[in-house]
Amino acid sequence: MSSFQEASAQPSDRILWKNLRIVPPGWQSGPIPLCDLAVEGQRIAWLGDAGGAPAGFQNAQQHDLGGALVTPGLIDCHTHLVHGGQRADEFALRLAGASYEDIARQGGGIVSSVRATRAADEDSLFQQALTRLDALRAEGVTAIEIKSGYGLDLETERKMLRVARRLGEARPVTVRTTFLGAHALPPEYTDRADDYIDLVCNTLLPTLHDEGLIDAVDVFCESIGFSLTQAERVLQAATQRGLAVKMHAEQLSLMGGAALAAQYGALSADHLEWLDEAGVQAMRHAGMVAVLLPGAYYFLRDTHLPPIDLLRRHGVPMALATDCNPGTSPATSLLLMMNMACTLFHLTVGEALDGVTRHAADALGCAGVSGRLAVGHPADFAVWDVDSPAELAYWMGLPRCRMSVRRGSIAFQSAR
Ligand code: NIG
Ligand code: FE
Repeated sequence: MSSFQEASAQPSDRILWKNLRIVPPGWQSGPIPLCDLAVEGQRIAWLGDAGGAPAGFQNAQQHDLGGALVTPGLIDCHTHLVHGGQRADEFALRLAGASYEDIARQGGGIVSSVRATRAADEDSLFQQALTRLDALRAEGVTAIEIKSGYGLDLETERKMLRVARRLGEARPVTVRTTFLGAHALPPEYTDRADDYIDLVCNTLLPTLHDEGLIDAVDVFCESIGFSLTQAERVLQAATQRGLAVKMHAEQLSLMGGAALAAQYGALSADHLEWLDEAGVQAMRHAGMVAVLLPGAYYFLRDTHLPPIDLLRRHGVPMALATDCNPGTSPATSLLLMMNMACTLFHLTVGEALDGVTRHAADALGCAGVSGRLAVGHPADFAVWDVDSPAELAYWMGLPRCRMSVRRGSIAFQSAR
């Protein structure tokens, strides 16, 4: 696990959280025992039977959670949170029969959000994204991945990534940035996709990486995005710089992007509605995470399910994310994504919960996050006003998060 920036813990940094019930990974059913959890500084120092904390914590600050259910802080591992404007009119066009691909080919889609994002100033982008971030945080999210990709030029990609970094400073949330320069072809490069990939690989990526704005690199490999060959050039440029990679793959068609990403040791391949067994096996051998995005599946009224049983059978961990974006998933509720993953993709509640905690952390390379509650791990957790873990995937909109703690400090508290 990578380093955490933290000051050395003082005795006053010790907090004992008492009387909680930690939902175990892969929860299926059954009662969950009471425990206590001791935090020192930003990390979990001790975890065990209620009342059994070491003497050093008996005089520490104490919070009694009264038997509440606790999960790791939720992690939204795939978002396009920073973007200008919205695309409700395109939604209406799709309701009237146009397809997502038709709209994209006619100059709408991602490119219309590029226009809005280029036109927006940094503060307005920040404010728009902050509203969305706060909605996620109110549901126990303590870490989030945020992509660029609505700029497609140096200035606007930089603006987006700077906004993403600022969000992580303005709120107690861990932000991981992903450079998605290869999201769509900007209008000024029409019919010159290879030239645009040159710009991505030789200018945008190196410059923004040198500026400290990039934690990972993503590519949209699709008929309306970039070809396998173009995607591979981006993966090469990123991995040559030691950057982690991932890919939007097999969303609308089977292109082989997931298997290509596997060759480059990608953290994850995301969407995956059209993934085949060879792709699943390649992901398994590369130790990748399958990031499922039920919001996009739902909002595009897709009917081609991702191969959940193959992923299970081959032991590929499944993460879930909002994919929060103005075109295919205007979603700011990770709990709703759990609900959709259960109803639409037939995940169990335990799988859905693992998908927004430990597997989501793995999809981010565990950088600064863990998605697990264990000694030595960051003290990132969410406290829920529910009787059963199944309620986390059951309610559609009812606020149930009492509070969240991130790196040992309270990060969100419900007004209830
Ligand atoms: O994850 N698939 C490509 N990118 C986004 C959609 C972006 C948009 O339509 O604005 C996605 O679904
Ligand atoms: Fe996406």
